[in-house]
Amino acid sequence: MEVLSQIAELRRQVADWRAAGLTVGLVPTMGSLHAGHLSLVRCAGAAADRVIATVFVNPTQFGPNEDFERYPRNLGRDRELLAGAGASLLFAPAVAEIYPGGTVGGTTVEVTGLADILEGRFRPGHFAGVATVVTKLLNIAQVDVAVFGEKDFQQLVVIRRLVRDLCLPVRIVGAPIVRDVDGLALSSRNVYLSPAERALAPTLQRTLQATRARVLAGERGWEQLESGALEALTQAGFVPDYVAIRRAADLGAPAADEAELVILVAARLGTTRLIDNLRVEAVSA
Ligand code: PAJ
Repeated sequence: MEVLSQIAELRRQVADWRAAGLTVGLVPTMGSLHAGHLSLVRCAGAAADRVIATVFVNPTQFGPNEDFERYPRNLGRDRELLAGAGASLLFAPAVAEIYPGGTVGGTTVEVTGLADILEGRFRPGHFAGVATVVTKLLNIAQVDVAVFGEKDFQQLVVIRRLVRDLCLPVRIVGAPIVRDVDGLALSSRNVYLSPAERALAPTLQRTLQATRARVLAGERGWEQLESGALEALTQAGFVPDYVAIRRAADLGAPAADEAELVILVAARLGTTRLIDNLRVEAVSA
């Protein structure tokens, strides 16, 4: 597996692949890889002839009091894992390569509306950072398909929207959440959890399951369902930011007969902020 850090080199490689009639897939990550990321690489490998994985801890998507500095970084290990998962190329650029004009001011991509709710409400500016870096990576790599995880469900909806709005010539594929045996969604940030917090963390997923069961049993009082889940999480020792039942397609408020729903949650456990979600295919009575 080749490892590149310069945009010009990456473009040359992609041009060579294209000239040979090969299709190319992209898997953007911030590194510190786990089985969830590697499932995206395999998914991209099933959709394209060559797979580029990127490892770039994007400064512009972190708030001033967030964990940019201490975000886990382990490029040597990431490289081994990506090679094992069948990636053709690792692109690991420096910040100055991706932000030649600096990270403050300049051109940004904002997906208004969608970027201001849920995660956006609690992490102002986060999705502008994500949308900007993903647009840059798609412009740089010019791939046929790009794969993102449903773990970050709102991020996936934001990216689909920006690709549509900016008429970018790429197909976006969403891949299912990979979980640990006890149900906790894999995340690079799980390493922050103390043993006691780690033991409690699967309650997040269990609360989502319990809420889904109530929806499937016919309950349609979304606010009541949300506050029930918030209370269960608080009682278990979490400090929840939100629990929200939304339309899966665009995260809008669902009508009572909505068939495609998603339950999204963000909650803090000690100093670690966890997010998770669960889709619900509700059959109306
Ligand atoms: P990161 O958190 O490293 O995640 C990279 C990709 O892996 C995202 O598409 C994310 O949804 C997916 N992913 C993470 N955990 C997963 C899991 N347990 N199961 C399935 N997929 C999972 O998301 C980002 O980085 C950044 O915002 C990025 C898109 C790279 C832009 O900087």
